[in-house]
Amino acid sequence: MISINVYPLPLYAQNEDLTNSVAVIIDVLRATTVIVSAFAGGAKEIIPMLDIEQARQQKEILETMHGKGSVLLGGERKGIPIAGFELGNSPQHFTSEKIAGKILILTTTNGTVAIHAARNARCLYIAGLVNAQAVVERLKNEEKIAIFCAGTDGEITEEDLLLAGCLVSRLSRSSQQNQCQWNHHAETAKQLWENQFFIDNNEFVSESKLIEFLRQSCGGKNLVALKLDEDITAAAKIDSINLVPEI
Ligand code: MLT
Repeated sequence: MISINVYPLPLYAQNEDLTNSVAVIIDVLRATTVIVSAFAGGAKEIIPMLDIEQARQQKEILETMHGKGSVLLGGERKGIPIAGFELGNSPQHFTSEKIAGKILILTTTNGTVAIHAARNARCLYIAGLVNAQAVVERLKNEEKIAIFCAGTDGEITEEDLLLAGCLVSRLSRSSQQNQCQWNHHAETAKQLWENQFFIDNNEFVSESKLIEFLRQSCGGKNLVALKLDEDITAAAKIDSINLVPEI
């Protein structure tokens, strides 16, 4: 029996005992998409951090051990790259030319906060639309799954719920009948996904429809306002990366 709980914001999981759960962290726009993309580009290790100053200090410490140029700082505040950081939070900028073999220290407004909120789980997987099916495959043999949506500045966001719904929908279809149970938020998320991408009980997902959906979402509107439309296009490349970052 698989039990799936979706938390639309990290604080919904505040009093939960996560020790026996596998947590899945979602921040489609953009932190978790960046983490998946950076590993696809060959990043050696990614260290999520909450604080900008601590991230800078950590880079100094790590560079004394691994050599100058071995560590890159990435992330954003209010969607904008952080002064002095080598990289922002745009998934398509994490190319192998920039990131292969490097350690990335990443600090973002919501995504890295969600990772820290789930730290008591048995292990943490990082999910974007880009690696959705790879995450589903990884979760198939798990019994207790906690899906954390990062949200945006304390607000629930549709883009994170949509991916949560995709994972619940695909997992429920891949498990035996009656072998999967989920909470109310998981049902809402599942319906959101299936209302968009289901015809006659079959999934029909298109990147153009995903882009359209993401542009209308809370995180998407912020990115459109910052003229970061390309980041939405990068985040919508569903099932394009076959790896699952694990903490
Ligand atoms: C975050 O972690 O807050 C997001 O990824 C925000 C963003 O980069 O737009």
